[in-house]
Amino acid sequence: MEGIENYAESLQNYLNEVVTIKEPKKLYEPIKYIVSLGGKRLRPVLTLMTCDFFNKDFKEALPAALALELFHNFSLIHDDIMDEAPLRRGKETVHHKWDLNTGILSGDALLILAYQLFENYEPKKFSELAKLFSTTALQVCEGQQYDVDFETRNDVTIPEYLKMIEYKTAVLIGAAMKMGAIVAEASENCKVNTYEFGRNLGIAFQLQDDYLDCFGNPKTFGKKVGGDIITNKKTFLYLKTLQKSNESDARVLKQLFSSFPEDPSEKVQQVKELYVKSGAAKESLQEIIKYTQNANSIIQELNISDKNKAVLKSFSDQLMNRKV
Ligand code: IPE
Ligand code: IPE
Ligand code: MG
Ligand code: MG
Ligand code: MG
Repeated sequence: MEGIENYAESLQNYLNEVVTIKEPKKLYEPIKYIVSLGGKRLRPVLTLMTCDFFNKDFKEALPAALALELFHNFSLIHDDIMDEAPLRRGKETVHHKWDLNTGILSGDALLILAYQLFENYEPKKFSELAKLFSTTALQVCEGQQYDVDFETRNDVTIPEYLKMIEYKTAVLIGAAMKMGAIVAEASENCKVNTYEFGRNLGIAFQLQDDYLDCFGNPKTFGKKVGGDIITNKKTFLYLKTLQKSNESDARVLKQLFSSFPEDPSEKVQQVKELYVKSGAAKESLQEIIKYTQNANSIIQELNISDKNKAVLKSFSDQLMNRKV
């Protein structure tokens, strides 16, 4: 088993080879900019780790791993436009630093660059990887559309929310794991189970993203804290608070979520108080634990060594303690 730093370092070296600034610079500079801001590299690390755990040289999974990271970065550029976000990874978002058109086109180019990387595989693997990639990428778009639709709907249910985050976030993490298994030529059963592990981990991951968006430390979070409240995102926190609050608190919350104040700080503060007072904040943390445990319960089905099973479990447990 290689260390996680090793996976991340190999990915970085490969990324430096593949992503370069060419003409026209205004297309490639923003691409280099966003990928150079780093991030946790969660998805590619999972791909490389899974491939490694199924006893194949993890370097063979580098193109697939980078494809997922580039796709993820594409989705972030466009997501920041859609969410009107000023900050990403502690720096200006692409559309703020440049402009909207630059964000749109650089994002598009990143998506194509991602797809191109699968050409490094022989036809059988190419076909399996590309199919999974297309299905997943389309689901991400569907999830993103639901996310936007929900901003202006006031009858969103928790099951609908869970489906939305499964699509916009969790399926990509499932696919990241499965791609590692595909490259390693693991059994069909193991491919299915790695995907399920990643999907459950991904749901926990997005629940936590929503929690941190609200309660994270603005100095270290790297994104604008309170952004989901400002844009009226129907998160678990919001939906659970409506469920658990008395009528008057619920009415106040609904009113706050139909307002667009020029200075949103008061709104953010009031909403956060309601999220805590209702007990929804606590329930959200329990929900994160539940989905992480769901993921961990699948580990025993995987045909990997006990040592690697323990590494995978400790990886998902550590993810629950993240602050970024
Ligand atoms: C942010 O993903 C978008 C979500 C799906 C929540 P990450 O939290 O993995 O972002 P980086 O790559 O580490 O910046
Ligand atoms: C993002 O969800 C999901 C995708 C980018 C596909 P968010 O909108 O919550 O992600 P952040 O918080 O901006 O990273
Ligand atoms: Mg966003
Ligand atoms: Mg979004
Ligand atoms: Mg978020």
